[in-house]
Amino acid sequence: GDRTMKVQTIKVELAETLKAKPNGAHLDFGTIFTDHMFLMDYKEGEGWYDPRIVPYQSLTLDPAAIIFHYGQTVFEGLKAYITEGGEVQLFRPEKNFERLNHSNDRLCIPHIDEQFALEALKQLVEIEKDWIPTEEGTSLYIRPFIIATEPYLGVAPSKQYKLMIILSPVGAYYKEGINPVKIAVENQYVRAVLGGTGEAKTAGNYAASLMAQEVVSKDGFAQVLWLDGVEKKYIEEVGSMNVFFKINGEIITPALNGSILQGVTRDSVIQLLKHWGLPVVERRIAMAEIAEAYESGTLEEAFGTGTAAVISPIGQLTWEEKDLIINDGKTGEISKKLYDTLTGIQYGKVEDPFGWTV
Ligand code: COI
Repeated sequence: GDRTMKVQTIKVELAETLKAKPNGAHLDFGTIFTDHMFLMDYKEGEGWYDPRIVPYQSLTLDPAAIIFHYGQTVFEGLKAYITEGGEVQLFRPEKNFERLNHSNDRLCIPHIDEQFALEALKQLVEIEKDWIPTEEGTSLYIRPFIIATEPYLGVAPSKQYKLMIILSPVGAYYKEGINPVKIAVENQYVRAVLGGTGEAKTAGNYAASLMAQEVVSKDGFAQVLWLDGVEKKYIEEVGSMNVFFKINGEIITPALNGSILQGVTRDSVIQLLKHWGLPVVERRIAMAEIAEAYESGTLEEAFGTGTAAVISPIGQLTWEEKDLIINDGKTGEISKKLYDTLTGIQYGKVEDPFGWTV
């Protein structure tokens, strides 16, 4: 795919009427979309072509399009923030396009030009910058994604695709915000297995996760803790986030094993903890080990990491009928410091020693 890539100019068609902006104080997650979107097409033999920014609109697709039947698709999630000085900032956006191509590899989707996609994203965000909310904890969520559009019912990689970027002004992902959530350890369903698509950011993983969440939400749990798909012993992720534990002063997160998503926030948290001189390890970690640490009083904190919620502390983990109450169900010190520092860097309030902001 990339061989046919050439420098292309992005056509811009502006909307004739603009929508009313929402009240930034009452934003949910992912319900409102801006006035414009980015689109680009791919055809085998031609490569990616016709990059354009157009008014936000519905798509017309052939009902036989491969995306509808076999789920050949990938997506990304990142955010734009506005600083106190009114500047627009992105957080490590190159990591998202790098990961998009990594997901593309797994889903047999042709690579995109990462630099070009980032340029397109910047142009779109520039056009929509008045949509970036300014209230504490709000941002403009950015959703790049690719769908297979060829009308064909045979199971094979599509010969046609669309790359799109849409934008949504958002508030907190969990209604709890930085307050701890209740999590159930999932013993029946699995999210991914080694050799599967767990490391790719693709729709099927999220579709496969719905059932477990539906079941536990009836008992008041926000999400599930996913165990490995073979032995159901080792911890993988929490909900749609990576997961960290603090045991006896050491911070531990499951090592990337092929079925765990390579989170940008996960990577940033590891780098921050190292920067602070704290011991952080990536290794395999059994749920039994967490329960033992709890029994011996050394389980100090647990939290999820992701772009949408940033840091989501775990106040309670329920496993085999036992409730593990972590840090008295309160937000832990490291969780809070990570949240404050990451969002501080993202909103330009805290010095960025890593050069993460763009
Ligand atoms: C995350 O940002 O943590 C996500 O996984 C995105 C979610 C909305 C799918």
